[in-house]
Parts: sequence; structure tokens; C-alpha cells
Amino acid sequence: MKTTTVTKRLAGLGGVKWGVYRKARELNQSGAGIVEMTIGEPDVAVSDALIDATIAALQAGRTGYSNGRGEAGLLDALAERYSATRGRDFRPGNFLCFPGTQTALFAVMAGVAEAGDEVLVGDPMYATYEGVVRASGAEMVAVPLRPEHGFRMQAADIAARITPRSRAILLTTPHNPTGAILTAEDIARIGQLAIAHDLWIISDEVYEELVFDDADFTSPLADPALADRVVAVSSISKSHAAPGFRSGWCAGPAAFCEALLPYSETMLFGNQPFIADMTELAIRRGSEAAPAMVERFESRAHLLADRLTTETALTVHRPAAGMFALVNVSATGLDGEAYAWDLLQAGVAVMPGSAFGDNLNDWVRVALTISDTEFATALDRIVDHAKKNTR
Ligand SMILES: Cc1ncc(COP(=O)(O)O)c(C=O)c1O
Repeated sequence: MKTTTVTKRLAGLGGVKWGVYRKARELNQSGAGIVEMTIGEPDVAVSDALIDATIAALQAGRTGYSNGRGEAGLLDALAERYSATRGRDFRPGNFLCFPGTQTALFAVMAGVAEAGDEVLVGDPMYATYEGVVRASGAEMVAVPLRPEHGFRMQAADIAARITPRSRAILLTTPHNPTGAILTAEDIARIGQLAIAHDLWIISDEVYEELVFDDADFTSPLADPALADRVVAVSSISKSHAAPGFRSGWCAGPAAFCEALLPYSETMLFGNQPFIADMTELAIRRGSEAAPAMVERFESRAHLLADRLTTETALTVHRPAAGMFALVNVSATGLDGEAYAWDLLQAGVAVMPGSAFGDNLNDWVRVALTISDTEFATALDRIVDHAKKNTR
């Protein structure tokens, strides 16, 4: 069978990283009772209002072809929302709608980088990023995100890796898996580099609405000096607990969106009008689900940090947003991968940090999205296991 180079560039990405997750699923099929803290999905159902809006749109016949950019009502809603939250004027022409952040990111990457280019990506990173960069033909250059800087990407670490082939910096704020949020100063420094070296900034902001109480979110879209080089991607997957609806967008310079439109049309031949209607409502009303998720995830992150810090030698990086916390397991003498397999025997499944890049070998990622009861059980098991396995 002959396949193209893009299939080879993507071969081997993904599968191996999910070993613990898959094993836990398999064991639980036969009733093993493992608490799964591997993947994170919103822990509530989509609101009735959004389900009703979808059904009403379907019944109203909103099932025909749309256009490549998105439905007018949704584009207006996005323009209003981004104008209000970014403090700059956004118009419908600043957006393209896509089935989720992931597709938006895929298309945007194809619009800024190609073979011969380099894209700077923070390590650790969200699981699909390497594939997204490689699919474009470009090469990924990992920029270490360091615990001593709260895992926030530092301009100096980017600067040390910029070459004449650098084309874009991919930011994730708030970040998965670290839960870090870039400060306005971080963004200003990174922005100066982007201007000096004529780089694009792609900003994955899918966790924007899951920012914890004592933290502030700043988008690079808010800086007028960066307006012609920032493209943000996001969706209602996390904010409205609606990942299965696959409804997202990119927000960026009108000329960029215009240039990317044929790519989007070629790929999708338009969005789904009934999903667009539901998303318009979601954007206009804001999220009912997000504040309660924030409260739950934040309090579980605190609980995890408090218990592990007082009762074990494990350390926790406190997230400022999102659905995950990171635990440093070096006190056990195991790396994250070996620890995750060992902890599985004790009835808890977590993601080895190595699944997210080369810089989290001593860490594991814990999802905060399970029920309080399951969370308490998992904590007891993690504490017991740590007490028995600390050097
Ligand atoms: C950082 C990040 N970007 C993108 C996505 C995918 O989002 P969507 O469902 O909108 O495609 C996820 C999902 O977990 C994520 O964590």
C-alpha cells in the first residue's frame, strides 16, 4: 500500500502515550474498580437550554448547507463577545467557524507554516500539537516550560530557539496539562519577540472560561500591537461542557481569515447551521456550566495539594485554570511512567507526564473531573501508595 509522506510524518504519534488509560479501561470492563483520572472531560451534561436550542434549530429545518465562514448570527455573536473581552474592535470578518478548537488549530497551522518552517511549541504540550505541526510539513521546536517559572513560557527560552526558519509560536493559555496562565507581561515579552522576528502567534484559548478565582486571563488578541499576527482558537467544548457538538472557531486578522477561507471550504464545505444556532446562543448567554466547574476543579486541586503536601513527599503544581493538576513523583524514586503503572496496581489511573513531551518525566497529570466521592477514594489510594513507596 502506498501512502503519502503526511501519513508517515504522523505515524506513531498518539497511541503509545495512552497505555495506562487503555489498561485502566480494560481492567474496569471486568470490574476492577480503578479510579480513572486520565482524560478530562467536563463533568456535567450540556445545559437544557442548549439542547433545546439545537432541537428547535433542527425542527426549524436548519439542516441545509451553510457557508465556509460560519452563520451570520454566530459570527455577529463572536464579534460582540471578542470586542467586549479583548478591548478591541472585532468584526465578523475576523472569524472562521470550525468543528472544534482542534480543527481550527489544524487549519490555522496550515495557514501559517509549511515544509522548511519551524514552529515553537511549549513542552509539555497538549497531546495533538506535535501532529498538528508535522501535518503542516513544518518542524516542531520544543521550548521548555519550567516548573520554577510556574510552567509559563519564557521569552528568553523562545529567543534561544529562534532561527531564520522560525515562523510561529504556539501558545496555550490557560495551559493543558500544567494549568498555567500567561501573564500580561509574559505576553508582552513574547509579543516583542514575535514582532522582532516577524512570527505568527497562535493562541489556544479553549480553557479561557475555566480560570480559577484568584487568577487573571489575558489573551494576546488584546494587544493592538500584535493585532496583525495573532490568531486565537477556541470552542464551546470546555466552556459549555459540549465537546461532542464540535463547535469552535479561529479569531484573527481579517486578511488572514479571508486567505484561509478557501482552505476551510475545501476541507469542510461549510458548517452545520443547527450547531451554529446553538453556539450563537451559547456565546450570547455566556456559560452556565463554567462557574460551577471552576469551583469544583479548583477545590479538588486544593484538596489534592493539601493532602499530598501534608501527608506525602509528593509535590503538586497548583493549576490556575483548567481540569488538571500535576504531581511530581520523584520522591518515589520512579519516573512518571513507572509511577503511573505502579499506581494502577493500587487502583488509580493517571497520565504519565511523558505523554505531554520531554519535560515532565518526573510528573504525572491528574484529572480533576471525577466526582468528589471518587476523588476522595483516589486521594486515599495515592496517599497510601506514596507512604509505602517513598524512598
Ligand atoms: C489545549 C487543548 N486544545 C484543544 C483541545 C481540543 O478542543 P476541541 O474539543 O474544541 O477541539 C483540547 C482538548 O482537551 C485541549 O486541551
